[in-house]
Amino acid sequence: MGTPVRRFASVDSTMIEAQRLAESGAAEGTVVIAETQTAGRGRLGRAWVSEPGVGLYFSLVLRPNVTAARLPILTLAVGLGVAEGIEQACRVECDLRWPNDVLLNEKKCAGILVETLSADCATLHAIVGVGVNVNQVTMPDELADIATSARIETGCEYDREEILHQVFQGIERYYGVFLDEGAEAIVPAFALKSSYVRDRRVAVLNGSSETLGTTAGLDPHGVLLLQTDEGHVEPILAGSVRPIDGR
Ligand code: BTN
Repeated sequence: MGTPVRRFASVDSTMIEAQRLAESGAAEGTVVIAETQTAGRGRLGRAWVSEPGVGLYFSLVLRPNVTAARLPILTLAVGLGVAEGIEQACRVECDLRWPNDVLLNEKKCAGILVETLSADCATLHAIVGVGVNVNQVTMPDELADIATSARIETGCEYDREEILHQVFQGIERYYGVFLDEGAEAIVPAFALKSSYVRDRRVAVLNGSSETLGTTAGLDPHGVLLLQTDEGHVEPILAGSVRPIDGR
């Protein structure tokens, strides 16, 4: 995982570069890393702020031999790997928020974006994008309440290459579990690691709709279950989860 490597000082998005490489036959494990991105992107059409020289911004080319139906679990598997890598390198405890947020002290320090190309239910490739906030000293005003960096949380400056190495190792480990054992192993591992999977008061935002409720576990396919305030259990297939403690 992480070789061959293509490094850029600046790109629009490492997702775009990795996509190009995948389409021209790049091997599994190929990674595109940038010092900064001018159009870094997150889930649901959001931007990913990519301050130069302080974060990790990379995309991996993966070629999992699985049906498209199994791909949502890949995001959970990568989240487990990224959290483990950050924990190893920074000696911190991370939390996970379904489906793709890695948290430090309740704020987001890393995010995962998986974009896939499938045909006839088979997966041709998956581009796994990871952004980690490492040495940022401040976050932009509009993100300061919800996002953080390892440095903001611990006061320590980190060697980004060491974090990158550990994060690759974590992803490699959980990618192996995903391929060998699938949802049966990844879903319980995610549920164990994430404080958000059960008994958290949350708002689920999906487009312009907001559903309030309490998280009620994951189904066997990794879909989040929400006990809504209206009194039914709703499977959450898309959208983002925000805490509403104290609201
Ligand atoms: C999210 O939390 O919404 C996902 C964020 C993913 C950000 C990374 S940074 C490297 C790669 N390139 C991008 O444009 N996005 C991903």
